[in-house]
Amino acid sequence: MLRLSLLLIAVSVLFECSDKKDSANDNAIEETKLDRQWWKEGTLYQIYPQSFKDSDGDGYGDFRGIFDELDYLESLGITAVWMNPFFESPMVDNGYDVADYRAIHPRYGTMQDFQEMINGMKERGIKFVLDVVVNHSSDQHKWFQSAKKSRDSEYRGYYHWWPAEKGEPPYRYSLFDPEGGWDYVEETDAYYLHTFAEAQPDLNWENPKLRQEVYDIMKFWAEKGVDGFRMDAFQFASKDTTYPEFPDGYESEFIKYHGLRPQLHGYLKEMYLEVLKPYNVYAVAEGAGSTFEDAHDLVDADREELQVAYHFDYVDMSKTPDGYELSEFKEVFTRWDSAFAKEGWIAIFLSNHDNARLVNRFGDTRPAYRTLSAQMLNTFLLSMRGTPYTYYGDELGMTNIDMLTIEEYVDIDAIGKYEAAVTKGEDIEEFMKVLNYSSRENGRTPMQWNDSKNAGFTVGKPWKPINPNYREVNVAEQNKNPKSVLNHFRKMTRLRNEKLVLVYGDYDLIAPEHEQVYAYTRTLENEQVLVLLNFTDQMAELTLPNEMEVGEVLISNYANEVVGNGGKAQLAPYQAVILKTD
Ligand code: GLC
Repeated sequence: MLRLSLLLIAVSVLFECSDKKDSANDNAIEETKLDRQWWKEGTLYQIYPQSFKDSDGDGYGDFRGIFDELDYLESLGITAVWMNPFFESPMVDNGYDVADYRAIHPRYGTMQDFQEMINGMKERGIKFVLDVVVNHSSDQHKWFQSAKKSRDSEYRGYYHWWPAEKGEPPYRYSLFDPEGGWDYVEETDAYYLHTFAEAQPDLNWENPKLRQEVYDIMKFWAEKGVDGFRMDAFQFASKDTTYPEFPDGYESEFIKYHGLRPQLHGYLKEMYLEVLKPYNVYAVAEGAGSTFEDAHDLVDADREELQVAYHFDYVDMSKTPDGYELSEFKEVFTRWDSAFAKEGWIAIFLSNHDNARLVNRFGDTRPAYRTLSAQMLNTFLLSMRGTPYTYYGDELGMTNIDMLTIEEYVDIDAIGKYEAAVTKGEDIEEFMKVLNYSSRENGRTPMQWNDSKNAGFTVGKPWKPINPNYREVNVAEQNKNPKSVLNHFRKMTRLRNEKLVLVYGDYDLIAPEHEQVYAYTRTLENEQVLVLLNFTDQMAELTLPNEMEVGEVLISNYANEVVGNGGKAQLAPYQAVILKTD
C-alpha cells in the first residue's frame, strides 16, 4: 500500500475524520433511501438473436442456438438478457416491423423453443427483457392490412390517417424515409403516418382500444415469464391528432416536436397499472426526451410510469472517424449522473444494435491495444452508477467490419441515408467513409465463438459476413487466456455483483479537464473505491486529491503498481484499475 508523506497523512487524517463523519451521516441517510431493485443491480446483456448462434444451419441465429450457450451466458455473470425482436415480421427493419406480436418468426424457432430458452435462463438466475415495438407495427400486420382497405375497418383508428380530400398533410420528418413521414394509400385515398420506414406505420396511441391491445400483448408475454420490457421508440408514441404545421427545418430538433407529449404520461401510468404493477415487471424506455425533467417525469418512482430510461447523449458522440474529446465524454456522463443522483435511474451503455462497435468508437483497434482498450471500456461501463448494458460481443472486444460499397449494406437506415446523400448531391466518397465507420451494421455481425469456419456461428451461410478477425477474437481463444477481454469482463461483473458501492455509490469526478484519464470515486457509507481509466495509448499521470490514500487493487488490466509517491498515479496505455481507498 502506498502512502503520501507523513505530513500529508496527518493533515488528511484530520480532514478525513471530519469529512468521513459527515459523509457517513449523509450516506446513512442515503442508505435508508436505497431502493434496491434487481434491474438496478444487474448487468444486462443484449442479444441480437439473428447474430448469436445458429443451431439449424440456415445462417440465422435462433433460440436453440441461444439455449445451447446458456452456460456461456451464466459464465458471464450477467443478470438479465434483453433480446431484440423475434416476432413474425417481413424483416424490413430486422424485426422492428412486427406483423404479429404473439407469433415467433420461424427463423428463430417455435414458441416451445422460446419457452425452453427462457426457462433455461431462469434456472441459471438470468432474467429476460422483451423488446416491445409498439410505436409502430409492420404494414403487413392484419390491423394495417384491414385499416388501409376501408375507412370503415374496425382497425382504421389504430393508425394515423390524413384524408386526401383535405389536401396535402403537414410535413412530418421520418427517420428512415427521406421523402417524409406520410405515405399515400390509394384504396382509401388517404395518407398514413410513419416515423420510421414506409413499412412501419405508426400506431395511434390516442385510441384507447389500441392501448388495450398493447397491454394485452404485454400480459401475454409477462405470463410466459418475461421480467421486463424495453419500449422501442416509445417517446414518439403520442401524437397531436390535429396534425399541426411544424416550423420549417424543425427536423434538426425533431425530438422536441415528436417526443414525449404530455399525454404520453397518462398512457404510461395506465400501462403501469394494467401491466407493470400486477405482473411485477419493469420497463425501460428508449429515449428520454430532450431535458432531464423529461427523463425524470418518465422514471421517477413516484411517477409510476417506467423505471429506467436511456438517452442518446453518450452514443451521439464519436459518430464520425474524427472521434471525440475525453473531457466532453466525461462531462456528458457526469451531467447525467448528477441529474439522477437522488431520484430516478438510467442505463449506461456505449453500444447496441443501432451503433458501431465500442472499441472502434471509443477505444483502439490496433492489435497492441484492442484488448486493453476493450477491457478499459468494459471497466468503465461496469463501474458507473446506472444499469450497464453490454452488447453481445463487446465482452470479447469485437470490432467493426469494412463495408466500402453501398451494395454490401442491407440495413434500411444505411440505404435510406445513402439515397438522401445522393439526392442532396453530397460527397459520396466522404459519406461512405463515415457510413463504414458508423453504420449500425457493424454491430450486427455474427458472434465469434471459435476459429473454425464461420467462427462457429453457423454451419450454413451466415446471413451477414463474419468479421475476418474471428481467428484471433473469439470465445474459445479468450476462455483459455486469463488476460483476455472476456475474462476481464467476468472479473468485472463478479466485482460489481459483490460490491453494492459500484451500484448505488455516489459518483464523484476527479480532474474533469484531464484529457487522458477518466478518474472518479464511488462512495457508499464508509466504503469508497477509486476508478482510474487511461483513455489513450500514452502513459498518463494524474495527481490524486490530497487527502486520498489508496489501498487494495480490486481489478486491473496490468500488473504494475499504479500510485506512487506524492499521490501520483501513473497509468500505462489504456490501463483500467479500481482500487479501494482507505
Ligand atoms: C429503435 C430500434 C431500431 C429500429 C427503430 C424502429 O430505434 O432500436 O433498431 O430501427 O426503433 O423500430
